[in-house]
Amino acid sequence: MLEIKDLKVIFEQNTVNEKIALDGLNLKLEDGDFLTVIGSNGSGKTTLLNAILGLVEKQAGTIILDDEDITKKPSHKIAKDVGVVFQNPLRGTAPNMSIEENLALSSAKGKFGVFSNGTSKKNKQKFREALSTLNLDLENRLETNVALLSGGQRQALTLLMATNEKPKLLLLDEHTAALDPKTAANILSLTDKIVKEKKITTIMITHNVKDAITYGNKLVLLNEGKIKLYFDKEEKEKLTVEKILSLYNYNLSDTQIFN
Ligand SMILES: Nc1ncnc2c1ncn2[C@@H]1O[C@H](COP(=O)(O)OP(=O)(O)O)[C@@H](O)[C@H]1O
Ligand SMILES: [Mg+2]
Repeated sequence: MLEIKDLKVIFEQNTVNEKIALDGLNLKLEDGDFLTVIGSNGSGKTTLLNAILGLVEKQAGTIILDDEDITKKPSHKIAKDVGVVFQNPLRGTAPNMSIEENLALSSAKGKFGVFSNGTSKKNKQKFREALSTLNLDLENRLETNVALLSGGQRQALTLLMATNEKPKLLLLDEHTAALDPKTAANILSLTDKIVKEKKITTIMITHNVKDAITYGNKLVLLNEGKIKLYFDKEEKEKLTVEKILSLYNYNLSDTQIFN
């Protein structure tokens, strides 16, 4: 499904600021895998997602998605197949537009089966149905400006827009880190529900080791641009926060393991 081979990303190469962000990284995911990724700040987690999305230059390596070599594919084309939710709730939706208009915008990319006249009566019904799956009562607020929604509601909306039409791959970059603990937990279980129901191949980066253990079927720990620890389904089921910490001198100050 996803195969990353010897991926190397070096920022500001051949300058005093040279930084090897990904140092020959290898990763293989099967269809429907839900991988959680942990690692201290600067270990290359976001760069890995950006590399898949075609947003950073790669110095070496290949990325194969669904039998297609996307290593050099333009980012706007990759975006058609890959759903993304970032940490910042403001990033995934347009604040000065209504919920309905945001959904119509995302449907212009082929989502929701709506292509033109995004806010017609028929489309409203499709949007209502999709929104009702979130259980946030947003289906009755189609005309509400997105700026008036909470961070959690916006992340839920972004998640819906990213997954309504099943993407080949879903990338989540600490998408609950900016939310309060209760909202974060809600968005996480919503994420888990969507990923499982639609069997979406997913990579979720999190700062929270406990969440990384609780969710998904595979787990990796990144360090200095490489995968330092890898746990498959069976190993992951037996994992504890303490075990990860004992296996690796994990940087405690960077994590919120007891949340
Ligand atoms: N656009 C960039 N230019 C220069 N250095 C960068 C850039 N993006 C990331 N880096 C550096 O690459 C390393 C990995 O960053 P990142 O992937 O964002 O880490 P993480 O998400 O694990 O915290 C860090 O040292 C970071 O400072
Ligand atoms: Mg990051």
